[in-house]
Amino acid sequence: MSNIDKWRKRAAQIVGQENLITENSELIPFSHDEYALDTFNRMPLAVVKPATEEEIQEIVRLCRELKVPLTVRGGGTGLSGGCVPAEQGVVLSLERLNSVVDADPANHIITVQAGVALKRLYEEVDKMGLYFPPHPGDEGAFIGGAVATNAGGARAVKYGTIRRFVLGLQVVWADGRLSNLGGKFIKSSSGYNLTDLIIGSEGTLGIITRVTLSLLPRPGAISTLIAPFDSVRQAIETVPDILHRGILPTAVEFVQHEVISCAEQLLKKSWPTHDGSASLLFILDGRSEDDLLAQAEELAELLESGGALDVLIAESPERQEEILALRSMIYEALREGTVELFDICVPRSEIAGHVEFVKEVEERYKIQLPTYGHAGDGNVHTHYMRKAISNGLLGAEVTGWQQLHQQVREELFADAAARGGVISGEHGIGRVKREYLVNNLGAVNVEVMRLIKHALDSENILNPGKVVQQY
Ligand code: LAC
Ligand code: ZN
Repeated sequence: MSNIDKWRKRAAQIVGQENLITENSELIPFSHDEYALDTFNRMPLAVVKPATEEEIQEIVRLCRELKVPLTVRGGGTGLSGGCVPAEQGVVLSLERLNSVVDADPANHIITVQAGVALKRLYEEVDKMGLYFPPHPGDEGAFIGGAVATNAGGARAVKYGTIRRFVLGLQVVWADGRLSNLGGKFIKSSSGYNLTDLIIGSEGTLGIITRVTLSLLPRPGAISTLIAPFDSVRQAIETVPDILHRGILPTAVEFVQHEVISCAEQLLKKSWPTHDGSASLLFILDGRSEDDLLAQAEELAELLESGGALDVLIAESPERQEEILALRSMIYEALREGTVELFDICVPRSEIAGHVEFVKEVEERYKIQLPTYGHAGDGNVHTHYMRKAISNGLLGAEVTGWQQLHQQVREELFADAAARGGVISGEHGIGRVKREYLVNNLGAVNVEVMRLIKHALDSENILNPGKVVQQY
């Protein structure tokens, strides 16, 4: 019996035959994430769907014994090839680990299994009358995957990324042992912070099986402001000043009108203004309507003196949702024509310069690089396209996009590094960006990461080949 046949037989004993996929046609969806090219796609030799943490431990022990690499998969919404299986590897899907373990409204804490989808998490938190601020775009993502990439989203300006809300994790290590990291406490000076080590490690150091999150009281009132500007530079340059004044919006997004027109076409809804060429979108929250009004007034004044052509306030929750949907659906609207979606993060004061650099690259190569993003935290999204956009619609295939892809990627990453930024602010390194990490973070940092990987998983069982090249 071949090694993989042995693995399949014993895996079936652990999870039950019905929770083991071996049919080629059924394995295909597990061979890729949402990264558009098939460069790194790979068919798993099997997909296993355990129901409990104990079953995960047994599967990991089996993989270690038979030297079968194991890649954990959550919602599969990643953009960096992080959950694509390794050569001769298998996939462990978290989809059956989807229970709320402990809802503790008194302490503002919830513990869930890693396979809970974000949509469900927001519903559960809502039932508790509380608020979980991080909102990475796709609610189909699982909390385990969001933690494994330290996902961000628009609300990071005020609240930070997911890392800030993770109080504890339950992890299965590469040898099959299980431990609980952190817990229901706010402070700890007790040894190395293993929780933070696992956050963002993309399944390479341990398998996250449970997540303990801190929650907040719900904001009393929320409003959305839109300010159009003549130029994107002018729009972005107002942001540091606004934050410096002590106004702390939940979110500050920038969009260029030619880009938002794609989402308008997709959703058949309209952005509140087409004056100028770019808009800032602000979400404000406050304890009361009065608090919110005071913030909005001060913000509007600052925007006007910063050159905004107008300041529009979306009053109704429906209109606010519509505007947010238009922003959130840009990716979806461009997806068909996208080769790669970058998520560079630079210091806030460098965003305008980075966006100008993107424009310069567009002009130099005569290509389109639709760009928008999280202006309040420096996280910029640029799409490298294989289809042309005109009037908000995707058109013909761009000739020669293959030749320029790597060059453009390298230039954008180099600009990010030169500005003191990182090549991934929220989507992760995965496989797609692995080779570029060393130029960004330096040889010493990557070497330390490889040493940690080696110390925790010397047999390279857990998601090998991702983030860093293992020893
Ligand atoms: C966004 C996702 C793509 O910000 O990160 O829309
Ligand atoms: Zn984003």
